[in-house]
Amino acid sequence: MHELIAKADRFHMNTYARFPIVFAKAAGTKVWDVDGKEYTDFLSGIGALNLGHCPPKVVDAFCAQARQLGHVSNLFYTKPQIELAARLGELGGGRVFFANSGAEANEGALKLARRWGKTKFSPEKTGYITALNSFHGRTLATLAATGQPEKNRLFEPLPAGFKHVPFDDIAALAVAMDDKTCAVMLEVVQGESGVRPASADYLAAVRRLCDERQVLLIFDEVQTGFGRTGKFFAFEHGNVRPDIITMAKSLAGGFPIGAIIARDEVAAAFSPGDHGSTFGGGPPVCAAALAALDVLNGERLVERAATVGEYFRARLEALAEETGSIEEVRGLGLMLGLTLKSADARQVVVALLDKGFIINSVGDSILRFLPPLIITEAEINAMLAVLKEVLEA
Ligand SMILES: Cc1ncc(COP(=O)(O)O)c(C=O)c1O
Repeated sequence: MHELIAKADRFHMNTYARFPIVFAKAAGTKVWDVDGKEYTDFLSGIGALNLGHCPPKVVDAFCAQARQLGHVSNLFYTKPQIELAARLGELGGGRVFFANSGAEANEGALKLARRWGKTKFSPEKTGYITALNSFHGRTLATLAATGQPEKNRLFEPLPAGFKHVPFDDIAALAVAMDDKTCAVMLEVVQGESGVRPASADYLAAVRRLCDERQVLLIFDEVQTGFGRTGKFFAFEHGNVRPDIITMAKSLAGGFPIGAIIARDEVAAAFSPGDHGSTFGGGPPVCAAALAALDVLNGERLVERAATVGEYFRARLEALAEETGSIEEVRGLGLMLGLTLKSADARQVVVALLDKGFIINSVGDSILRFLPPLIITEAEINAMLAVLKEVLEA
């Protein structure tokens, strides 16, 4: 392990604050490092493995398709891409574009909204509003969309046209919106800033405001999609439908993919040449996504996320009472966060890694849990017993 990490330190760009662990194999909720130590995963990549590690039906579908037809240009059709577009299009009520990641899905959605605003209304209708503490990706435009000034400042000048408003504050959004706004983009539950769900009233008010002012509503479901919050998409917790949905992470059960679904009338703003991708929607990853959707539905994992999520949340709340070191527990389904009273979150993560549990911290004091939706109550109890010991220590 040490030799490999020394090699990485010499040749990797220094972009991740990595833990000194090299993983070698995984199955379900378990991962093993190169020395054979076993870990239970409460992070799922970062929400990219809702079905668990190496889900056999998904891996089989990917491999079989890779052997038969691995890649052709998007100047041609393939059956897996057509079938997946039909499946997602019916689900999301619209038309689909495939990318390779969450940032790319959001980048495409931003381009589509701008094209819609310019062609349908005026050349000036090009502005975006997103929320403070949001996270939408790391390309220049999605970084500009990300409402974290300390991250953004390092890369200025960023693409123009983005305003950030406090999350869950409809008055602030109404003030920021003007004739130049083409879209509002929001996470239904802010993930990277520490698991913060929007209120149902806020989302309904955002929808009304967007309708009144002819502004598109984009929900970034990259982290919240595919059952994570106990509904297929997180917006289904309320009554609000967006005009555009972006997704990635767990869509193909752990293989890299991104996708945009837009209402037909909005999708019509794109013409050939306006947007594209060499690898987006390739046959193997689409075959994997079709299999992943089958597993998600067949094994009723969305419902499972809701019930096991409730159990997990109740246990976290009990832990808060028992230890007195937790300020708040929040989240939806199996997307859960807790705020510590101290700034020791990373230390807690390191202590749990030592004991064989992968959890995550955001900022100095928030712990985040995004386990595979197949996590068991026994695994939750085992992790929480260790977390309790660590918090007490
Ligand atoms: C809500 C949200 N949007 C976008 C992204 C970016 O996705 P990717 O890392 O696949 O580009 C993430 C990644 O964490 C995310 O959580």
